[in-house]
Amino acid sequence: MEYFTPKGTNLKISRIAHGCMRIAELTDKELDRLIKTSVDSGINFFDHADIYAGGLCEEKFGNMLKHEPSLKDKITIQTKCGIVIGKGYDFRPEYLLSCVEGSLKRLGIEQIDVLLLHRPDALCEPEKVAAVFDKLQKSGKVRYFGVSNHNPYQIELLQKYCSQRLIFNQLQFGPAHTSMIDAGIHVNMADGAAVMRDGLVLDYCRLNDITIQPWSPFSSPDGMFLGNPKYKALNEEIERLSKKYNITDSAVVLAWILRHPAKMQPIVGTTNAKRIADIAKASQIELTHDEWYGIYRAAGNDIP
Ligand SMILES: NC(=O)c1ccc[n+]([C@@H]2O[C@H](COP(=O)([O-])OP(=O)(O)OC[C@H]3O[C@@H](n4cnc5c(N)ncnc54)[C@H](OP(=O)(O)O)[C@@H]3O)[C@@H](O)[C@H]2O)c1
Repeated sequence: MEYFTPKGTNLKISRIAHGCMRIAELTDKELDRLIKTSVDSGINFFDHADIYAGGLCEEKFGNMLKHEPSLKDKITIQTKCGIVIGKGYDFRPEYLLSCVEGSLKRLGIEQIDVLLLHRPDALCEPEKVAAVFDKLQKSGKVRYFGVSNHNPYQIELLQKYCSQRLIFNQLQFGPAHTSMIDAGIHVNMADGAAVMRDGLVLDYCRLNDITIQPWSPFSSPDGMFLGNPKYKALNEEIERLSKKYNITDSAVVLAWILRHPAKMQPIVGTTNAKRIADIAKASQIELTHDEWYGIYRAAGNDIP
């Protein structure tokens, strides 16, 4: 596994992260096996959110840590806050502080390593968010901060007031969800792929040393694309590379994300122990330049 240190931190974290959004469906024994396999495969970064399964994902993870306290020292825990399910988004101090208290309690830890603002709050007052971050950092409840699903100017606005560096931006990205790359390839064209939907967030994050954490890497507008007949060409290309490198189809997808020079940290959400061990092997291979474009094109993306 390859490890990296986000600028301004002393974290040493795996290039592949494990997302915990789906773990509520596992028994305690299955969860224990999943996380131990993940750690044994070199993954030391786990992503949560206060809202996953209404808090049950954090709670189950916390119970697991209680029974395996030595695991805590080996891993970095990130969680997200700011979504009010079914209502909207809330970055007001009282709400953010209550989210953090809830996550700390459910996870059974005294400090969250990384806290992300989950989705932009249209009524965000950045000065107030900055005061919350200061309070959380001074009290030792949170070490580092970042955002999720934010565009460049939303990040700039927050960063203007926050004294802490925003180290991550979590965004949906994978071979079948490439809008942040398409606009950069179709510059100055009149087709749909040229539409700049996110303010060139990929380039912005690279320029500002913000690590992009791609979420749902196997997703497409038609659900999971692996094995999906609508993505025949993509699956054939993935299968070809899977045979060439002797890794699984999911690992080829991860290798494709890791090959991008932005050095993103993809978050995979599998609940299957064998699958996470296989996926971790993606960090051992490097796709060629042609192979990267081959997957991009096979996903149905047009090259002008
Ligand atoms: N910031 C945000 O707004 C946001 C949004 C969504 C998610 N996230 C984060 O991103 C993480 C990943 O999201 P995700 O779980 O949607 O992403 P994902 O890793 O793309 O999808 C995981 C799903 O794909 C299935 N899968 C993977 N490989 C497969 C294969 N080869 N064949 C069949 N099924 C396969 C998994 O099933 P198995 O469990 O059976 O392997 C699981 O149901 C989440 O856990 C969360 O931490 C963030």
